[in-house]
Amino acid sequence: MTVPADALRLRAATAADHRFLADMLLVALNWNRDRAAFHLADIDLEPMFARYIEGWPRLGDQGAVAESSGEPVGAVWVRLFGSAEPGFGFVFADVPELSIGVRDGLRGRGVGSALMERIHRDAGAAGARRISLSVEPGNRAMALYEKLGYRVAVTRFDMVTMVKDLR
Ligand SMILES: CC(C)(COP(=O)(O)OP(=O)(O)OC[C@H]1O[C@@H](n2cnc3c(N)ncnc32)[C@H](O)[C@@H]1OP(=O)(O)O)[C@@H](O)C(=O)NCCC(=O)NCCS
Repeated sequence: MTVPADALRLRAATAADHRFLADMLLVALNWNRDRAAFHLADIDLEPMFARYIEGWPRLGDQGAVAESSGEPVGAVWVRLFGSAEPGFGFVFADVPELSIGVRDGLRGRGVGSALMERIHRDAGAAGARRISLSVEPGNRAMALYEKLGYRVAVTRFDMVTMVKDLR
């Protein structure tokens, strides 16, 4: 199923989207319903989570928001991390790491794919040659990432780092 093209609008994420990005980060962290859920406050309390959105938008950040009927329904963004404060999917300081979430109830309709294709274009246009991300085994999202050209680069305990070549 896809969200009708006329109902879905993609736009660049701005500073005003900070809270929505936090919501979507929470969606990504809470992908596994069998686990205790994280709450918004946990993002501020845990530096490994906070670093994905703190100071948004920082130099080098890029993001997109999907809107349906004027309401944000999903977001994707990429951020560069340094090796001293890496993200879960860190590979190199010049490879931005991607985060994505789509609101429950609107998944499986093409929103995530549209967001990812958009960020691939935007990041490539800004000079990125690769994009990385982190996903846990068992998350259906991994199949989507593979379909979009991501390949497993590192498997560490319960985390898989995937990388897509944008060239
Ligand atoms: C992963 C996610 C961003 C994909 O967006 P989407 O709009 O659902 O994706 P699309 O409709 O474009 O693509 C469908 C594919 O996404 C994946 N997908 C679909 N529903 C999903 C879900 N509830 N959770 C995870 N992945 C899902 C599947 O690979 C699916 O392909 P399939 O239909 O052949 O099984 C979205 O499902 C989501 O936010 N899931 C929960 C949070 C999450 O897992 N975030 C990523 C953390 S690494």
